[in-house]
Amino acid sequence: MVDEAKKEYSGFLFVLEGIDGSGKTCACKELLKRLTSDGYTVIHLREPTNESQWGKEIRERSPKGELTPEEELELFIRDREWHIANRILPALKEGKVVLLDRYFFATGAYQSTVTNLSWKEILRRNREEISSPEPDIVFILDVPAKIGLERATGRTGKANLQFEKLDRLVKVRQAYLEIAENDVGTFRIINSEQSLERVVDEIYDIITDTLIMSE
Ligand code: TMP
Repeated sequence: MVDEAKKEYSGFLFVLEGIDGSGKTCACKELLKRLTSDGYTVIHLREPTNESQWGKEIRERSPKGELTPEEELELFIRDREWHIANRILPALKEGKVVLLDRYFFATGAYQSTVTNLSWKEILRRNREEISSPEPDIVFILDVPAKIGLERATGRTGKANLQFEKLDRLVKVRQAYLEIAENDVGTFRIINSEQSLERVVDEIYDIITDTLIMSE
């Protein structure tokens, strides 16, 4: 858990992570509705962004599988640097609750499967080179790769050739679980084979407990 006394801002950062098709985007939208109607000032952000030049490049080139592993890593880190400076930190400084759909743990989990860097090294770069703020809690929505892929490709009718491959998602899921087990951050693993409603309920309870405890 982030040491509240040492935080340079009054907001809260909750991150949802998981493989493609794990349900994080739908869960974020539901959580945004519930927490907003409770009276919290909440913002839902996502990475890769579709605002910075680097985020736009990822969204344009990845569906065809055009990016080299080095390009993937650099683009996600540059996009994140922009996102932190222009969206995440300003929201945290305004005291908002930030629901972030993917963050640097995604770079650790996905890019460690294609580069020769470990997830540890990738997380270190994000923390040290671009001073990524530490989340209050990272929720890992855990689902077997086959189910995630079926959900993700069923939604759009086609797979993103860069990221949505079964063998890659098996490794990404494993990396997320290893990160949750070994990294210094605060993680909660949520069984995302359950209904969306159950997933949202579990996350909602943990977030509201955290917010109430800090009052
Ligand atoms: P999305 O499906 O959540 O919009 O994310 C797009 C893809 O980008 C997804 O397949 C995971 C991948 N990704 C990475 O490989 N590394 C990262 O750091 C991030 C943020 C996303």
